[in-house]
Amino acid sequence: MRRLAAKVVTVALVVLLVGVLAVVGKAWWDSRLPGTYSVMDYGTVDYGGGSEVGGRGHGSHAGGVSVADLDGPSDPPDTRFRLTARHATIHLASGRAVEALTFDGRSPGPELRVRQGDLVEVTLANEDVDEGVTIHWHGVDVPNAEDGVAGVTQDAVLPGESHVYRFRVEQVGTFWYHTHQVSSKEVRRGLFGVIVVEPRQAPAGVDLVLAAHTFDGIPTLNGDESGGRHRIPAGTPVRLRLVNTDGFQQTFTLSGTPFRVLAIDGTDLHEPGELERVGLTIAGGGRVDVGFTQSPGAVRVGIHDTTVAITLSPHGAPAPAEQPPTADFDPLTYGTPAPTQYDARSTFDRRFELTITRKPGFFDGLPGLQWALNGHIYPDVPVFVVEPGDLVEVAVTNHSKGIHPMHLHGHHVLVLSRDGQPSTGSPWWSDTLDVLPGESYVVAFRADNPGLWMDHCHNLTHASQGLTMHLAYAGVTTPFQVGAAHHNTPE
Ligand code: C2O
Ligand code: CU
Repeated sequence: MRRLAAKVVTVALVVLLVGVLAVVGKAWWDSRLPGTYSVMDYGTVDYGGGSEVGGRGHGSHAGGVSVADLDGPSDPPDTRFRLTARHATIHLASGRAVEALTFDGRSPGPELRVRQGDLVEVTLANEDVDEGVTIHWHGVDVPNAEDGVAGVTQDAVLPGESHVYRFRVEQVGTFWYHTHQVSSKEVRRGLFGVIVVEPRQAPAGVDLVLAAHTFDGIPTLNGDESGGRHRIPAGTPVRLRLVNTDGFQQTFTLSGTPFRVLAIDGTDLHEPGELERVGLTIAGGGRVDVGFTQSPGAVRVGIHDTTVAITLSPHGAPAPAEQPPTADFDPLTYGTPAPTQYDARSTFDRRFELTITRKPGFFDGLPGLQWALNGHIYPDVPVFVVEPGDLVEVAVTNHSKGIHPMHLHGHHVLVLSRDGQPSTGSPWWSDTLDVLPGESYVVAFRADNPGLWMDHCHNLTHASQGLTMHLAYAGVTTPFQVGAAHHNTPE
């Protein structure tokens, strides 16, 4: 009797084990990313409660419009640039040499200054970056075909090849450009630069870009870890464009002057008040413009808790010590309200939820604790489907322990609330919104730029681990394919 019972137990255990192995094996098998695939064919379609357009494959139905046809104007350009991607050795002030990937031999790449309304043409050439490159215009809401995402809006540009981008810049402000091919490695290694869109009548004064980037663990400003000095006559209006090109937060401090935050993510703020000793924490990929009047003394602008700083003074004085911040800047209550085309009381055509968690599972065949979007691991993540003209609300919640600077391509979102607290300051438009652990934001945008758009974490390591998804306009298709077979790996 006993023996029989033991046998039954053993058989039951074996059956259970086989069952578990089958389930785990299937999860593993399903998680492997194919050598090549279309972004239209994966993910779980989410209509945000709106009409169910497009159907499975969200746009692969006949009569659709191809991403390739959603391109920029073909008129003669007002400004032309050529950027060449290549390997180069960068020498930091300490003498440290960094084997970098660059545009035109430097990192940051050339600063592109254009004027509002310009038709910009940029030719990207790849000299020797084997994995290929593209250029994404981070924060510039370009037509979809000009968005520079390998495998979604174009093929990666391989060594010896080139690609032309054309778009008209209508938004004034501070933006940046970077490769969107193997971006988690290539951006970190230096394939980025800053693009500034000036108003047609540029205001008087000094206008400087300060781009933070960490090379091999060394924080730098404009590729220099010692910062540098600028002579500026007292009384001069100064605008500093702070750009965080890292995948994680950077906190800037200003010492020796009161200042105002003039813009966030390229959009001017309404009636910004004067601040002093307030730390400016910028999301990975985010930008903040600050303004002040040059004082007779020295002003220090640096990355908090580092020695990386620039000094602005009338006489070339050395940097004062950092005045540590006593408060953190909070855009939710800064400035004063102004009318917007929509707000929290608007009627939304679609409302989406995007909840970030971690869960055990397989990602591309590897087991581990994975990022999950609405409970699903990439490529099984949601695809938000919209129609042109829709007013869209998205509630983004971070239930993980990581910080996620969420970046939606092709659109700016209006922040409505954080953790239920409404935005009561200046209208706060963002393209790279830091969502801290436990936080929940409600944002709104108008679906006014048809295409297939990435929506991902700008901690590009997280994105490469699956914290990425798409916003798809119904009926838009792409002829491009992601996957090793096509050399297209946007993350
Ligand atoms: Cu700055 Cu999808 O990127
Ligand atoms: Cu993240």
